[in-house]
Amino acid sequence: MNSLEVKKYPDSCLRIKTRPVEDFDKDLSETVAAMADLMYVSQGIGLAATQVGLGLSILVMDPGDGLAVLANPRITERSSKKTRLEEGCLSVPGITVSVNRPEEVKVRYQDERGEFFLKTFTGLAAKVVQHEMDHLAGTLIIDHMDPVSRFFVSRKLRKNGFKTEKRTCEVVCNAGKRHSDRT
Ligand code: CO
Repeated sequence: MNSLEVKKYPDSCLRIKTRPVEDFDKDLSETVAAMADLMYVSQGIGLAATQVGLGLSILVMDPGDGLAVLANPRITERSSKKTRLEEGCLSVPGITVSVNRPEEVKVRYQDERGEFFLKTFTGLAAKVVQHEMDHLAGTLIIDHMDPVSRFFVSRKLRKNGFKTEKRTCEVVCNAGKRHSDRT
């Protein structure tokens, strides 16, 4: 599991819809540890499973107050007040997008052992958790742009190309039913 790498747009892995985590086993904790390592090495503050080619509903984040692991996250409440933040993404390098999101969200999730939590995220943590949950639904920051900007940005990003990686990734995405098949 130490061969994880961050998938870059337009890699098709970034568009897969994740399935719930059901087995909170040793494979999962190894996956989570590898994702956290990769996030820190990449100097990111969040990383979702789709970004490493795994179709599982799990993310890691550390907006500055320590590592958090969220499996099967669901937003149960969101503040009506929204604020904008210039968001970057390890999978869409070189650009930032001003994204308007609720300032505060309450999230129900499980940790890597399967224990349930209900936590309110505010400030940067609220932005990060929503950004990473977007990934778990196959949504990227470019999807938050106006259509014209998105057209030009995605064309530029596609020109930079990650075509060979895309092919490898599709095999990885579709191979096997469990995350352990991909270690
Ligand atoms: Co991202």
